[in-house]
Order: sequence, then structure tokens, then C-alpha cells
Amino acid sequence: MRLTYFGHSCFLLETSQARLVLDPFLTGNPACKTPAADIACDFVLVSHGHEDHIGDALALSKRCGATIIANYEIAEYFGAQGAKTHGLNPGGGANFPFGRVKLTLAHHSSSVGAGLHPIYLGSPCGLLIAADGKNIYHAGDTALFLDMQLIGRVGLDLAMLPIGDNYTMGPDDALDALGFLKPKLTVPMHYNTWPIIAQDAADFAHRAGRAGHVVRLMVSGDTLDF
Ligand code: NI
Ligand code: MN
Repeated sequence: MRLTYFGHSCFLLETSQARLVLDPFLTGNPACKTPAADIACDFVLVSHGHEDHIGDALALSKRCGATIIANYEIAEYFGAQGAKTHGLNPGGGANFPFGRVKLTLAHHSSSVGAGLHPIYLGSPCGLLIAADGKNIYHAGDTALFLDMQLIGRVGLDLAMLPIGDNYTMGPDDALDALGFLKPKLTVPMHYNTWPIIAQDAADFAHRAGRAGHVVRLMVSGDTLDF
């Protein structure tokens, strides 16, 4: 399986059966060098409604005919704009041609449209993907929470965790999250996109390593086979 990073929380996951874009923040992502028009995908997975996560979801869905998998409200929101969608809610999963997607809890918020009249788009979620015999967890934006222990029970081959602080957990809480999740491999995300979420990811990786965890730092454009 191949993972490509586009910066922030945006990844392309290529399984043997399908190409999945996770939190497709390409246009306007200061870290992303790849135009959204260059990406082809079969599914788009969205963790919550914030603009730095829904990003190009609608455009990708329409151009590629990709199904958007997200919480019920986000699925309805994009469905009403002509996208193919599949809505889930936390704790619920569904089977797709490439494998299974289950939404997990995340402690965060989920709205689109800043200012006086935000539209609230359901519960923020994490994404748990089972494909090609591997379990992959993209935490979305979240605080640390004790129930991460339940998510880790499946045996995670790869976890993508936010470490940026301010809007999500920072490095200290992400280290505790690793203790709950016990993934074989971790890729930090949601940091250094803007000054407000600047973090020393190398220091995080070093501290995680001392606690027995394997962290792989990716920069935008990097690819990882696992
Ligand atoms: Ni967010
Ligand atoms: Mn975010």
C-alpha cells in the first residue's frame, strides 16, 4: 500500500483496488505543490467540515466520479451539490470495493463558513480504514481521548495523528495518544501549515522513539510504501 502526503492532513492512499484521498485540502494549502487537477481518485474521505479538510472534495468527486465518504451531514451537504456520497456516523462502518471504512470519535468541531452564520456539519470524526489486510487510522482533528484505546484494539499498521496544538492535540498529548493506539507506524500531520500550528516534529519523533514508537516524518510530496 502506498501513502502520499500533500501537507496538512491531506493524503493519497493507494490500495490494490482504489485510490483514496483523505481530507483533500489541496487548493489553498500552503504546503501543497500538487494542483488538485493533477489528482485522480476513486473515493474521497472527509473527517469533518472545516475548510482545511473538505478542501477540494466536491471538485474531486465531480471530476473523477469519486464517492465522498463522510459523516451523514457532510454527505448530505455534498450530495445536495451533485456529488456521489456515502454517509456514516461515528461507530458505523461500511464495506466498499477496496475494503472497509469506519468513522471513529474525534473531539473537535465541524462547521463550514466562518463568521456569523456557520453551517454545522455533524460530528467531527476520525477515519478507520481496513484494506489489503492492513488497518489505517487517520485521526482527523482531535483532542486526546481515552477511547483511543478502543480504536487501537484492531491493531493499527499506520496512524496519522495531528500534533499542531491550538486546534488539535499538541505533541505531548499525541505522545499519550500513541500509548493508547499502539500503531506500528505513525505519521504526524496538521502542523507547520501556518505559524499558529508550528511544531518541532523531529523532537516529537525523537521523544516517541524513546517511548518505543516508530514515527516517520513526511514532507509534502513524500511517498511511503508500507
Ligand atoms: Ni478542524
Ligand atoms: Mn484542521
